[in-house]
Amino acid sequence: MFRFVSVCFVLLFFLTCVTDGTYIDDLYDINEIENIPVRTSSDNRSSVDFPNVIRIVMAADNALLPPNIKSVITNNISNQIFNNELNFILQNVDRYFWILVDKENSLSSDYIPQNLVHLQDSSFRVNRNDLFLRSIAVTNLEEMSIAAAAEGLTIIVSSAYRSYVSQEQIYTRNVNQMGRQAADRVSARPGHSQHQLGTTVDFGSITNAFAQTREGRWITANASSFGWSLSYPDGYEHVTGYSWESWHYRYVGKEVAAFIDKYFDGIQQYALRFLHEYSKLIQNN
Ligand code: DAL
Ligand code: ZN
Repeated sequence: MFRFVSVCFVLLFFLTCVTDGTYIDDLYDINEIENIPVRTSSDNRSSVDFPNVIRIVMAADNALLPPNIKSVITNNISNQIFNNELNFILQNVDRYFWILVDKENSLSSDYIPQNLVHLQDSSFRVNRNDLFLRSIAVTNLEEMSIAAAAEGLTIIVSSAYRSYVSQEQIYTRNVNQMGRQAADRVSARPGHSQHQLGTTVDFGSITNAFAQTREGRWITANASSFGWSLSYPDGYEHVTGYSWESWHYRYVGKEVAAFIDKYFDGIQQYALRFLHEYSKLIQNN
């Protein structure tokens, strides 16, 4: 039975590759496909959706996920909960919560988020008077700050929305001060900053001393349950393209934050790259 299903699988996959002109060897190891758990008739879950299984494997491959994350995905591939969570995000969560904005993928120079709200001291404090965020992010920042305040902590917002032009000025200043190579490790080029989304915040001192403060430790432990996700974790410069920024959080929404924690080891870049690749395959369908 398993051999039959595997053969069907390979055939189906081969047909998919032939129709889009890609060669099977270019995509991924055939053993990986054969190792995908397949349901038996005794399973009470619904039957495997082969084209979708193939899309998920291809997306994991195209997203260059490391083997440990790939195997989490592979182990969950026929799990209806994973598929439901994935489809929920694609169909119901604001695309700008999970759109990939990194060194390779940019926002257009004229992208300005809607519903920008001027930040003022409230349940959180602001370090300057010219900060704006999308209203949905403000609501969820307030919720998180109220929870932190209940433990005697004050969340401080030091940077928020940046227009394309202001990011261009910041990046140019950094290049002039430290040279392009060093600047590229800490500063996004215009169009490539998550700050242009209006859903990203720099907390506290904007230095990694923040990680050792009580507020920093609390945010590390609790941010994702309020929909906030650390973008540039320690030790992942080879993945994100940026050195550790313990202060830089993006609001991705509670569903995406839970998805990142559950299947991607808490690494936002892996999850957003996977969603990016998967949604491309859905669109091409
Ligand atoms: N510091 C981050 C990478 C930015 O400039 O958006
Ligand atoms: Zn930042």
